[in-house]
Amino acid sequence: MVQIVEPRAPSHPNQETNMQKPIDLRRVTSPLLSEIDEGVSQTLAGLRERWQPSTELRQHRRLGTERDRHAAAAFLAARYGTLLDPGRILLANGTQNALLLLLSALVPRGGTVLVEAMTYRQIRDVAAMLGLNLVSVALDEDGLLPDAFEAACRLHRPSVLYCIPTVQNPSASIMSAERRQIVANIARRHGVAIIEDEAQGLIPRDAPPPIGSIAPDITWSVTGLSKCLAVGLRIAYVVAPSAAILHETIATFEDMAFWYVSAVSAALLLHHIESGAAFALTDAVQREAQHRQEVAARLLPSTMLKSGHGLHIWLSYPGVRGDEARAAAFNAGVLVRSASEYSVDGDRDLPGIRVSLADVSREDLIVGLTLLSGALSPPAGT
Ligand SMILES: Cc1ncc(COP(=O)(O)O)c(C=O)c1O
Repeated sequence: MVQIVEPRAPSHPNQETNMQKPIDLRRVTSPLLSEIDEGVSQTLAGLRERWQPSTELRQHRRLGTERDRHAAAAFLAARYGTLLDPGRILLANGTQNALLLLLSALVPRGGTVLVEAMTYRQIRDVAAMLGLNLVSVALDEDGLLPDAFEAACRLHRPSVLYCIPTVQNPSASIMSAERRQIVANIARRHGVAIIEDEAQGLIPRDAPPPIGSIAPDITWSVTGLSKCLAVGLRIAYVVAPSAAILHETIATFEDMAFWYVSAVSAALLLHHIESGAAFALTDAVQREAQHRQEVAARLLPSTMLKSGHGLHIWLSYPGVRGDEARAAAFNAGVLVRSASEYSVDGDRDLPGIRVSLADVSREDLIVGLTLLSGALSPPAGT
């Protein structure tokens, strides 16, 4: 008989004896909500009646079907303040897959992509796979710095700017509408295309419109559904400047299936949107994110909490490097990510840590944030 041995839960290094697990505030994903099980179960039951596997599973869903793309336009309508032309939208296998597709189409091998000085970590992997140079552009609390962006355009002649204006990863900032306009104007002047990553674009209720709606002529906006619905769907919507540019850009890849969405995921998503359940779930994620942001604001000193939007926050303490803060958090039993993990230039001295609010229960979040506050606050009187 095969004996199944449960893997030992990793114990906290300072608490070997009581085997307490660290509270892991590293992963940013959609929070666990009861609406997921209820809503998806209903959609699956509906699918059984309406779906014909023998037809649908034997077809590729290149770009997504017409219905998929109409549903995408409906799902994005509140964010864009208008119903987009479905012809501009394609469905890809998640944001990472969309980035691979877009960067290989828009940037020649050896070409340059500008990115925020701290950014989504996997963009480095994608750039390395494609043989592209990443050049960092400085950030402030509003996001990408226009002067630094313009200087980098002059110096490096990039093909693309990849940026995360809404709930920046990791700094949690939301770029103002004015800054978005300025960035778009600079990009247009220098002939630079923008790839805007809207990973958390649908989560804050008060974010300015995407750069894709301010400057649709030069922007590719990618809205992954991993944070507002579920990471396991592996679907992202890509909004192209126009239907014609979309076809022209992906012409080389049109017969390659690596980016075609899975028919099962796409059908599930389609019916989830058409039944209204996807909107209800995104609403629930927005409310939960808001609630958790309020908890963080209550539990953490305002001097430490630099920014909080969507599903994560950014903590920083003057004179404390992110790696030191991460070590202090670890010693207190909390796992977080340090600024250095997001640095495009490998800068290990950057201040700040990213703390996810999303991937633990509400109870564990309170414990984790309380431990963090104690571990990172300076002793009284200093
Ligand atoms: C900024 C950003 N882009 C993309 C992703 C990944 O998205 P997807 O699951 O759609 O590939 C993440 C997830 O962590 C992210 O933070």
